[in-house]
Amino acid sequence: MAINSTGLPRSQGAGEESNHSTQTAVAAVQALAPTNLRCVECLALYPAIEAGQSALPVPRYRCDCGGVLDVEMVYTHPNQHERQNADLFEADTDALPTSGAAWRQLFDERISSPPLWAISTDKQLLDASGVWRYRELILPVPDEYIISRPEGNTSLYPVGMENCGAGRIGHRQIGLYAGLDLFFLKHEGENPTGSFKDRGMTAGVTMANVMGAKAVACASTGNTSASLASYAAQAGMRGIVFLPAGNVAGGKLAQTLAYGATTVQIEGDFDDAMHLVEHVCNELGIYLLNSLNPFRVEGQKAIGFEILQQLDWQAPDWLVLPAGNLGNTSAIGKGLRQAYQLGLISHMPRIAAIQAEGANPFYRSFLGNFAERFSMHAETVATAIKIGNPVSYTRARRVIEESDGIVDSVSDAQILAAKAVIDRSGIGCEPASAATLAGIRQLVERVVIKRDERVVGVLTGTLLKDSTTGMPQGRSGIVVKPTLDAVRSVLAQ
Ligand code: F0G
Repeated sequence: MAINSTGLPRSQGAGEESNHSTQTAVAAVQALAPTNLRCVECLALYPAIEAGQSALPVPRYRCDCGGVLDVEMVYTHPNQHERQNADLFEADTDALPTSGAAWRQLFDERISSPPLWAISTDKQLLDASGVWRYRELILPVPDEYIISRPEGNTSLYPVGMENCGAGRIGHRQIGLYAGLDLFFLKHEGENPTGSFKDRGMTAGVTMANVMGAKAVACASTGNTSASLASYAAQAGMRGIVFLPAGNVAGGKLAQTLAYGATTVQIEGDFDDAMHLVEHVCNELGIYLLNSLNPFRVEGQKAIGFEILQQLDWQAPDWLVLPAGNLGNTSAIGKGLRQAYQLGLISHMPRIAAIQAEGANPFYRSFLGNFAERFSMHAETVATAIKIGNPVSYTRARRVIEESDGIVDSVSDAQILAAKAVIDRSGIGCEPASAATLAGIRQLVERVVIKRDERVVGVLTGTLLKDSTTGMPQGRSGIVVKPTLDAVRSVLAQ
């Protein structure tokens, strides 16, 4: 069904006028002409935007064979030795840099402009976003379509025993725990809505805007829904989210409701919600913004670009992240691969995706050299990654294979122990994010990651949304009578 044919009302406060005129819509379609969607299963190719019977754009999330789609853009390609395997080909892209050095210069110039919210200049605003700063590698849409908070610009904390610096005794505890000298944590919980999801969502909602969508929807374990709700509100679209009832951290649910999304709690798990949302979107012409949506993956690639830029384009040996639905593994892997192919970096980091033991279908497939695809009923304290049938399996498998990467699995006890270390260091993160540190510690113990290798771990979400899981001191701290004696006796313990 064409995307804006649904009779769903626009969200409260949304203007009557459409976000784009016919003229600018034509410009957007032209700008997206070098962008195609490639099926990751059968390799069939589709245009980024297809017109339906009424000439309205019709979204496509899957290939006719049922496979997931991947955005394919065309660039000039300096790394000739990579050419046979590359998904980027030389094309009519006169204005784009043609060497790794020129790409680096472009991005470095943009970061040197002050990262302030600009009131009148769109360009400055885009340069201030940790996603749209890399816009040529994200989505070639006219600037006026872009919906940005802006996002990104998150900290890359040096936490290794050697690189943490004097005076950071707390942060050094993380390096000690991991057993690494040169170790960085990229805190994606510092994004506008508190998770890495904002990077994909800015691209996804921008694409919804291009498509003229009035309503956007997703299934979520909580962070995607909060992000969708925020960006949909900003764009004047109706946000609709499906959550697994009783399995979403309180802060994420509160956030989603506060931003005004229609919030449907499904008496089932995330995998049930995911299945339902895809059907509902196709039936009602609502624009789907799960990571099944290939444009969200494009925005999320920017985590990789920003890490590389913060490291002055010196690629790390390893990049480690938690894995659930596998959108992030696919996105970061794709971003790093593109950075390598375009000559921005001189080697491809190895990627390690870490799953929770009770929700580890990707790990099971990895153990059998990906001969079989598993699904399972998921159970873990890390509700964000409580996913038993990941949508982006094939994309993520490609990333692991191409980067000589690995998949590992950690128990809930390991996750909570690692979370306590990150929290006590003063940095803090949500439970799913701590799978990163738990996985790194395990891989260092097994000497898969060597102690002297340079490692970047991604913390995907903020501490603040989940105020119960893994909290010390009975959650609310110590309560005493308002007397000096009472306070003294507590501090003496
Ligand atoms: N970490 C956090 C904090 C997450 O919210 C998620 C996924 C992941 C890791 C895993 O990323 O799914 O791309 O492999 N959260 C989704 C959501 C499922 O709905 O918020 P993935």
